[in-house]
Amino acid sequence: MASSGSSRSSKIPEILAVSGGRPLQAVGFGTASFPFVAEDVKNAVLAALDLGYRHIDTASVYGSEQVVGEAVTEATRRGVIASRGEVFVTTKVWCTQCHPDLVLPSLKESLQKLQMEYVDLYLVHWPMSVKPSKPHLFMKREDIVPMDLRGVWEAMEECHRLGLAKMIGVSNFTTRKLQELLAIAKIPPAVNQVELNPVWQQKKLIEFCKEKGIHVTAYSPLGGQTRTSQTNAILHCEALKEIAEARGKSVAQVFSVYFLNSS
Ligand SMILES: NC(=O)c1ccc[n+]([C@@H]2O[C@H](COP(=O)([O-])OP(=O)(O)OC[C@H]3O[C@@H](n4cnc5c(N)ncnc54)[C@H](OP(=O)(O)O)[C@@H]3O)[C@@H](O)[C@H]2O)c1
Repeated sequence: MASSGSSRSSKIPEILAVSGGRPLQAVGFGTASFPFVAEDVKNAVLAALDLGYRHIDTASVYGSEQVVGEAVTEATRRGVIASRGEVFVTTKVWCTQCHPDLVLPSLKESLQKLQMEYVDLYLVHWPMSVKPSKPHLFMKREDIVPMDLRGVWEAMEECHRLGLAKMIGVSNFTTRKLQELLAIAKIPPAVNQVELNPVWQQKKLIEFCKEKGIHVTAYSPLGGQTRTSQTNAILHCEALKEIAEARGKSVAQVFSVYFLNSS
């Protein structure tokens, strides 16, 4: 995201400023990895920075904030980047901390792990609250509690006012949830990060976000939600394979270009 002086990073196109923020790279590097192997994720982030990525996506529930911070520090030490300011870092508050009094402490804990003074973008990971506990992925239905959207968003706005989050946004919000949020927000969400790919196009949601000035970020653009490349609905789609073959590229390469052109 940051306009880095490095020639390698200039290979990834930037998109215009999101909601008054600085320009950001159109392709980010995700750090969700299950099972999580710290050394592997740290090395992957270091390799990504070395290749020119400057837009890194993490979340408290991924357990990757610490290694993202370490990789950014290490990349600075090695001279791959001049400073942390060259990297656009997104992190997210998990459902177990989606309570008005837990959002700010959760961001402070994330910043401590990241060894950073601010994140560029802080997201509400899901429009859902779960009984407070350490962030964990496997939630029981009986632990889901009604979400205090107003209180949670006020806490997000406070994170922004304190300068700890340069921008605030949401993830996995439907049009209806966004409408609810826009009706109460003093600072509207800058971003909605949602699953988006050729088999899950969410056209109405994209139209709505465009109309409201909310930037849409795609996660799992290559069908990662199927978890394994053996059953991946995109990488194994015959029509997409034909398009890729006709251009002498892989399906992943064709869709990187597709997302760059539509961002
Ligand atoms: N906000 C949210 O709720 C949310 C949810 C999910 C993800 N995310 C973010 O989005 C990031 C990306 O998610 P994802 O991993 O699901 O996305 P993805 O971009 O769809 O990539 C993963 C899938 O694509 C395959 N793949 C990746 N690069 C490839 C290449 N060059 N050629 C062929 N196949 C390739 C992987 O295969 P293999 O299995 O063989 O490696 C895997 O099946 C996450 O790390 C996280 O930061 C956010």
